[in-house]
Amino acid sequence: MAENKLNPKLGMDAASLKKSLENHIRFTLGKDQYTSTTYDRYSGLALATRDRLIERWIQTQQTYYDKNAKRVYYLSLEFLLGRTLGNSLMNLGLQKEAEKTAQELGYSLEELREKEWDAGLGNGGLGRLAACFLDSLATMELPAVGYGIRYDYGIFFQSIRDGWQVETPDNWLRFGNVWEFPRPEFTCVVHFYGRTEDWLDENGWKRKRWVDAEEIVAVAYDTPVPGYGNNTVNNLRLWSAKASREFDLNYFNGGDYIQAVAAKATSENITKVLYPNDNVFEGKELRLKQEYFFVSATIQDIFRRYKKTHKTFDQFPDKVAIQLNDTHPAIAIAELMRILVDIERLDWDAAWNITVQTFGYTNHTILPEALEKWSVGLLGRVLPRHLEIIYEINSRFLDGVRERYPADPDLWRDLSIIEEGEDKKIRMANLAIVGSHSLNGVAALHTEILKKSVFPGFYRLWPEKFNNKTNGVTQRRWLKLCNPELSALISSKIGEGWITNLGELRKLEPFAEDSGFRNEWAQVKKKKKEQLAAYILSRNNIEVNPESLFDIQVKRLHEYKRQLLNALHVVTLYNRIIDNPAADHVPRTVIFAGKAAPGYWMAKLIIKLITSIADKVNSDPRVGDLLKVVFLRNYAVSNAEKIIPAANLSEQISTAGTEASGTGNMKFALNGALTIGTLDGANIEILEEVGKDNIFIFGLDSTGVSALKSKGYDPYYYYNKNRELYRILNQIRQGFFSPDQVDRFAPLADALLSNGDTYMLLADYDSYIACQDRAAKLWKDQDAWNKSSILNTARMGKFSTDRTIAEYAKDIWKVHPVHIDF
Ligand code: IMP
Repeated sequence: MAENKLNPKLGMDAASLKKSLENHIRFTLGKDQYTSTTYDRYSGLALATRDRLIERWIQTQQTYYDKNAKRVYYLSLEFLLGRTLGNSLMNLGLQKEAEKTAQELGYSLEELREKEWDAGLGNGGLGRLAACFLDSLATMELPAVGYGIRYDYGIFFQSIRDGWQVETPDNWLRFGNVWEFPRPEFTCVVHFYGRTEDWLDENGWKRKRWVDAEEIVAVAYDTPVPGYGNNTVNNLRLWSAKASREFDLNYFNGGDYIQAVAAKATSENITKVLYPNDNVFEGKELRLKQEYFFVSATIQDIFRRYKKTHKTFDQFPDKVAIQLNDTHPAIAIAELMRILVDIERLDWDAAWNITVQTFGYTNHTILPEALEKWSVGLLGRVLPRHLEIIYEINSRFLDGVRERYPADPDLWRDLSIIEEGEDKKIRMANLAIVGSHSLNGVAALHTEILKKSVFPGFYRLWPEKFNNKTNGVTQRRWLKLCNPELSALISSKIGEGWITNLGELRKLEPFAEDSGFRNEWAQVKKKKKEQLAAYILSRNNIEVNPESLFDIQVKRLHEYKRQLLNALHVVTLYNRIIDNPAADHVPRTVIFAGKAAPGYWMAKLIIKLITSIADKVNSDPRVGDLLKVVFLRNYAVSNAEKIIPAANLSEQISTAGTEASGTGNMKFALNGALTIGTLDGANIEILEEVGKDNIFIFGLDSTGVSALKSKGYDPYYYYNKNRELYRILNQIRQGFFSPDQVDRFAPLADALLSNGDTYMLLADYDSYIACQDRAAKLWKDQDAWNKSSILNTARMGKFSTDRTIAEYAKDIWKVHPVHIDF
């Protein structure tokens, strides 16, 4: 073990923190009391906090080397980290000290934290899951490294103009990023294009090599990832593209200096911007280059680390576990084979054995439009050697399949990594399954759908590879940090064990029967709603009533997530209020937020419909406080932290069988919201945990959806049968919400009627409305509602990423905790 020369008490008191902050403002930022801004004070505090991570970080990395620990490498094209300061202070146990320091400077800690830009290097669930995983890995003292891309521009900034989404670039690095350490001296060369050629080695064996390729350099940027309440600080290494010296020489020697500078800039575009699609595959060359770029640099880095302490590759799978977060990094399978066979000169079978033992693959979606399939022509042009290797993998794999199932050519076709047709495609999911020892889904239902419907052939072939790892969320960010009031109340009754062992929340159950506790619980929820109401007023200039039922749907805009179904409910409520003003209506505030992919026209039209409904409802004096509709712009991690704690009702209403897991559903329930949802994704497991009396479930289940589809689904049947629905669709179609352009929303009505209602909103409408009515009824009994709210939080123990990660570590990675002495 490394000799510990570090001072364990390094400046962990408020006075040292303040001194350190002041020093940074002066000596790192070069500012004095006349010139330093609030942003400088944030930066000073962030740098002072970072100082307190560095020695733990170095100690952690040295200990991993000294113990020759097996490490897990989590490869993800997205890490949606959000802000870091609050989380780092919390994990270091420095919150009180930082609060004191901020106050002495004339600020609240909250004001300084608000100055930090969100690191939005992800689209939604997949990227945020990766961020929660990093937190759990460090908290559980597991040796792990996250690898991804340092995009210059993260997910776009969404503003709303005339009710429409407008995108602007997220220039998140404009003021620098104090959390990252550039390693300009630490680079890897990545190749693209060129061709392959045969050559004979010194033993006369025919070998292949990749030649005449373009070179791009990957520069490492490291971000420390601290565990909660321990000394572990893991590393997140993100790669940025730079033109190579070779590139410079080739271009600049040509004599056209300006042209050469332009070419250099273009070559560095690889890591310029995150593709803003969620659950949709776009087969663009630049995206393929992003995928290979970060994979190639990462595999080189893993090799460098492994080779420091090992002479042969026998132990590779005992020291290295690589997890593929979806198929985006799946080209790593071909890359590892290329390095082992072409460069390290292992024979194919030995290399293949190592590869399969090393990789695990997580599938995140069953939506056909999201499955990655690269055209053979494109992949062969950008990565000629990898295409050959994929063909070789496929041919050997299919030989085995044919031997086992000689009379089943349909099965051979389904399993093949190559999809035949006019434009041949590489099915990245098939490559990932063939090249991994583990394939997991992210919720129980999702894994069953993978087995039965998406990859039944592979399940027949290798049932042992399939396993489920239900997603989770980190309770550190999604309860302790974002809801300090509720956390304090919980801890006052059951202690702080839940922060690292979420199952302990069960101890809250008896307090659901305690009216005094219920009252305190309700007071906290009300406070969080008042805070959100103030935020809504400042952003949208809409006054909402904190006493009303806060009914919230925040997530990416996607037809399968059915924000439109929620909108149909809002219009139902509106019509009922107008028709029958004297009835006993439950006052509601319906809040939406979420980004639509810039090219997703229907999703953008749904945003416009929601904002148009909001305009009409909020300005109608007959409605008053009974109903308010809010679309909050630019949903991101930092405003999720404000929105989620304020929810009474959490909308999780995707068509059954479409949402792989969802993790927003878990964050809401953890903060005491009741879920209204379908039997989809992890909602099913939430139902199992909280019990049917504490959740509102409606609609078709996934079997019902399939059955209705195969029977022949007719949305007109539901339209003609339900008077309220009939009226609403006519209102939407005929310009009730768009008097300035009456046919504006006709495409939405068409999607639900003449175009077949792909996501079956009309089939579920009746059941959804009835379920919403039940929720409203329960709301009238505040005692019963609060009891359910407490039980929701108390029964969320399963949904910690600590549990998820423990399962990955045991079942897939075989990695063990390494305690860091400090
Ligand atoms: P790497 O990218 O994993 O090689 O991380 C570098 C970190 O590991 C630094 O903190 C080094 O101090 C530490 N490190 C690198 N090589 C060794 C070694 O051979 N023994 C102990 N620590 C090492």
